[in-house]
Amino acid sequence: MTRIFSGIQPSGKPTIGNYIGAMKQWVELQEDSPDSQLIFSIVNLHAITVRQDPDQLQERTFDMIAWLLALGIDPDQGNAKIMVQSTVPAHSELAWILDNYTTIGELNRMTQFKDKTAGQKPEGLLVGLYNYPVLMAADILLYNTDIVPVGDDQIQHIELTRDIASRFNNLYKEVFVIPKGQIVQTGSRIMNLQDPSKKMSKSSDNHLSYILLEDPPEQVNKKIKKAVTDQYNQVVYHPATQPAISNLINIYRGFNGDLSIEAIQKRYSGLGYGQFKQDLAELVADTLADLQTRYRSFREDQAMLGRVVAEGKEHCQQLADQKLDQVKQLIGLI
Ligand code: AMP
Ligand code: TRP
Repeated sequence: MTRIFSGIQPSGKPTIGNYIGAMKQWVELQEDSPDSQLIFSIVNLHAITVRQDPDQLQERTFDMIAWLLALGIDPDQGNAKIMVQSTVPAHSELAWILDNYTTIGELNRMTQFKDKTAGQKPEGLLVGLYNYPVLMAADILLYNTDIVPVGDDQIQHIELTRDIASRFNNLYKEVFVIPKGQIVQTGSRIMNLQDPSKKMSKSSDNHLSYILLEDPPEQVNKKIKKAVTDQYNQVVYHPATQPAISNLINIYRGFNGDLSIEAIQKRYSGLGYGQFKQDLAELVADTLADLQTRYRSFREDQAMLGRVVAEGKEHCQQLADQKLDQVKQLIGLI
């Protein structure tokens, strides 16, 4: 049996970057690997590493569950579960234990922390934000996870998880499975529509820089029309020299996996950016409109969402407590 685990923060509304890099892959894994056990976590303890409005955090936690259901994650089907991180205390407990098997040198190398805190004085930075990769390691290691499907910004955190797990195993015994990260072939890093040198992020201040799964067709059209392009007016995939159009091609592929990059280039050869952008906007807007209809019907059913949370908690608590007990015993905690 293969265990697959991944997580998403309820720190904003999901973007097409989350969808293409992570969530779409999760649904495909659920369908393609019926013998695997999958857990998808709404990681609200990670979200509080940046100050959140309490009511909004709670709403967004349910929003995110409804999005996973709308995309096709089906906890009733048997092999996939959705869980909310804060409902299983073992995540926080194991994180504290693993803090004592992780060095400051390792955390200092984490590029996401460096990027998020660039230009700020270290004295004012929050310890939780710094420590965030250790909590992520705990999430993964509690469930004997083999595969962690993520966007490429999380690969360094998974490498750290592997190092922490190996260190612990070497000191005591083989208690942790060493997990592997898995990224999609194209689209593992969807870039900001206004600045293709930056990742598309749901917490960006510039709403033109991202497309949300909940954006209506007018917004999708506007954002794609206004997306920056390169100077050549040719639909060519070359991320190093033509990053903006290459990013739009990745988005196209994320929404229509049947066309290869070569086929897209061929289809738009000689047509310039205008036609390509128009077709892309239509493709994205149509796909999102269908998803939004599904989303709304799940989001309205609060009783059902509550049930998903309760069932996810029950399923995961058992597994997590077992692993935590083994760990505590190994290091002499009663
Ligand atoms: P987050 O929004 O940080 O909770 O990320 C949830 C998942 O989406 C992680 O697997 C990320 O790697 C992935 N992800 C976030 N932003 C992007 C992006 N711009 N392109 C591809 N994957 C992304
Ligand atoms: N840190 C991840 C992100 O921001 C979210 C996350 C938390 C996660 N725990 C995880 C992803 C465990 C995969 C596995 O995207």
